Amino acid sequence: MSEIILIGVAWPYANGSLHLGQVAGAYLPADIFARYHRLNGDEVLMVSGSDQHGAPITIRAEKESKTPQEIASRYHQQFLQNWRDLGISFDLFTSTGTENHLKVTHDIFLTLWNKGYLRKDVMLQAYCPKCQRFLPDRYVEGTCPYCGFPTARGDGCDECGKPLNPTDLKDPYCVLCSTPPRFEMSEHFFLRLSAFQDELEMWIASQSNWKHNVLGTTRKLLKEGLKDRAITRDMDWGIPVPIEGFNHKCIYVWFEAVIGYLSASKEWAHLQGDDTAWQHFWHGDAKSFYFIGKDNIFFHTLIWPAMLMGYGDLNLPYNVPANEFLTLEGKRLSTSLNWAVWLPDYLERYDPDSLRYALAANMPETGDSDFSWREFLRRNNDELVATYGNLAHRVLTFAFRYFEGVVPSPGELDDQSRDLLDKAGDTIIDVGRSLQACQFRKAIRKIMALAQDANRYIDVQAPWKTIREEPQSAARSTYTVLSVLTTLRTVFSPFLPFSSEKLHTYLGFTGSVSDVGWRLQILPPGQKLHYPKPLFAKLDDSIVVQEESRLNKFSQR
Ligand code: MF3
Ligand code: ZN
Repeated sequence: MSEIILIGVAWPYANGSLHLGQVAGAYLPADIFARYHRLNGDEVLMVSGSDQHGAPITIRAEKESKTPQEIASRYHQQFLQNWRDLGISFDLFTSTGTENHLKVTHDIFLTLWNKGYLRKDVMLQAYCPKCQRFLPDRYVEGTCPYCGFPTARGDGCDECGKPLNPTDLKDPYCVLCSTPPRFEMSEHFFLRLSAFQDELEMWIASQSNWKHNVLGTTRKLLKEGLKDRAITRDMDWGIPVPIEGFNHKCIYVWFEAVIGYLSASKEWAHLQGDDTAWQHFWHGDAKSFYFIGKDNIFFHTLIWPAMLMGYGDLNLPYNVPANEFLTLEGKRLSTSLNWAVWLPDYLERYDPDSLRYALAANMPETGDSDFSWREFLRRNNDELVATYGNLAHRVLTFAFRYFEGVVPSPGELDDQSRDLLDKAGDTIIDVGRSLQACQFRKAIRKIMALAQDANRYIDVQAPWKTIREEPQSAARSTYTVLSVLTTLRTVFSPFLPFSSEKLHTYLGFTGSVSDVGWRLQILPPGQKLHYPKPLFAKLDDSIVVQEESRLNKFSQR
């Protein structure tokens, strides 16, 4: 039975380039998951978009003397290019700047208001007397009360990672003019999160299949008790509050960004020419998966579900397989200190599949994991090139040399060959199971283990030796490895889409790997092969020092 799967992926702020932490945290696992389910014959809708509102965008704009719209458009275009280059296969990557998103956001806001799930209240907000304006959280900086970091932001400390309020900061100052702000009362709308405490507790208690880190974080927040949260701000860049007398205030960026999952689904349906097509992915048996980084857990396991409960009639998240953080060369990533590898830089210089492989093999799935250039080089050269790429190249060129570029007939199989082919068949099933459970590291390791087995097999069988005296044995082992490569092409394809398509062609198949589906495809003897090029390029050792020296040197992208 095919499944109906909605995949929501965190909406990146359109205020700067993407970095590898975001790729490993959300975009890559989401894409692998989507590609697997599509191959498996399931119905998939994968959506996300640029988060164009909020202080991150206006701060960047102010720094560059540009309008927020210019900044948002620039990075939106860059993101779209990055997805193409890295092979992230969104069904729709839109933005929070569309008319449609505004309409859907207003509908949710007003429905929650009319149902009594919002209330008005006052709160303290930083006000800069010199700039004569209210300051969003990120416009206030000061000393972190926990670690003493002198330039902690009003929403959190970059050094120790603690979430903060502007009022927590010691010696706060306005980031625009350095004046200490005053705190003034301002009237706002609050989401009555506390009204959902019981319902959320019951719902979370039934999520036994969620990841430990996600459940742990969520339960802890529930235990502390949910407080009502302000969902509007004194800002002019964003979606205006749709209530008389409040139109000059904006809906808080987080409240509207999560609505993007729904508005993007509706936009996708409209683009399909069927305005109701989104409903299929939001009702009944459809399962919704949200791929996000761990800093976004609260918004996806409590706030967004509360909004959905209040609104009514739409599916709650089925799973939120949030990843932990990726560290870089052993240190916490920092975009402001340029301790980051920027995705556009990577894509300018290296192969997308090499990155997809290195990040998937070491995904921060159950705990933080580290990216280092040395380890990247090792994964590329020793695993991708030496184990998988060379196997394909050796056997394909051998078939051209001795079998006229045609898949040879295996004749009767011996035990060793049968064992290996059985293992390939088991791998498809095993890997499918791991991927359904969002265990990406485990899945890719199983696949590489099959490639290693095939290497051991071919070394023992040594067709280059048997070809003269026992050509039938050489034909059998060549056939067997070409068959295993047929399977590797399929099971690797969610992880390594570009090289899988190439191998698909080299093996003499037409069309795309995606036409085949997640199943064992028999390689027909007599099929004409294509002369191969190497699947992956070996990288020179010197790139490690080169790349390490780039860190910290240049300013933020
Ligand atoms: N733009 C925010 C971030 O990058 C929120 C992303 S997830 C969303 O952290 F769904 F809420 F948009
Ligand atoms: Zn100021």
